[in-house]
Amino acid sequence: MTKIGIVISTTRDARFADKPAAWLLALAQARGDFEYELVDLRDHPLPFFYEAASSMATPSEDPEGQRWERRVAEFDGFIFVTAEYNHGPSAAMKNALDYAYPAWNRKPVAFFGYGGVGAARAVEQLRLVASALEMMTVPFGVHLQGGDFMAAWKGGKPLEDFPQLVPAANRMLDQLAWWVRTLNAGRYAPV
Ligand SMILES: Cc1cc2nc3c(=O)[nH]c(=O)nc-3n(C[C@H](O)[C@H](O)[C@H](O)COP(=O)(O)O)c2cc1C
Repeated sequence: MTKIGIVISTTRDARFADKPAAWLLALAQARGDFEYELVDLRDHPLPFFYEAASSMATPSEDPEGQRWERRVAEFDGFIFVTAEYNHGPSAAMKNALDYAYPAWNRKPVAFFGYGGVGAARAVEQLRLVASALEMMTVPFGVHLQGGDFMAAWKGGKPLEDFPQLVPAANRMLDQLAWWVRTLNAGRYAPV
């Protein structure tokens, strides 16, 4: 079964991330096309990267690092649910990206950003990093931003109160599905 990992990229106790991740998981699972699963960075307490070399050619010597690469390898594609910390992705997310390499390669990734500007700046930075990891990034994303973000974050409104997110999410998931099928067919073709 084709599997998509929805990565929760922040880890602090008071995080908002669970809300968009749960909303997206329910919407994605209702499509019935692939298996969608949450991948919570809290479940992977990676050390701050201390390996002898890049994960590109040197597997991690750390048991958590090895477990993480195996977890990433389970999936055919990803959706990174991301906040914006000082206009970039969380340090936990960047660390997790650095802690694997072959398992990310030739797989697509889409983004759900939340924040003042829908984490647009963090998403753009993640696109650059994903490109270095030989991933394909889906152009259309979902951005919970501005007053809607404040109403959901501080005001406690459910994401169901923002129906405009649904067509954005489905467009993103449609594109992701195309890349998943295409890259699954070609992942092991010689260069
Ligand atoms: C260290 C830090 C930096 C932040 N920087 C930004 C920022 O650059 N842009 C933004 O829109 N929100 C920023 N915020 C507010 C976050 O959007 C908000 O706290 C959000 O809930 C963070 O995601 P999380 O709850 O999943 O950790 C920042 C929050 C923290 C903790």
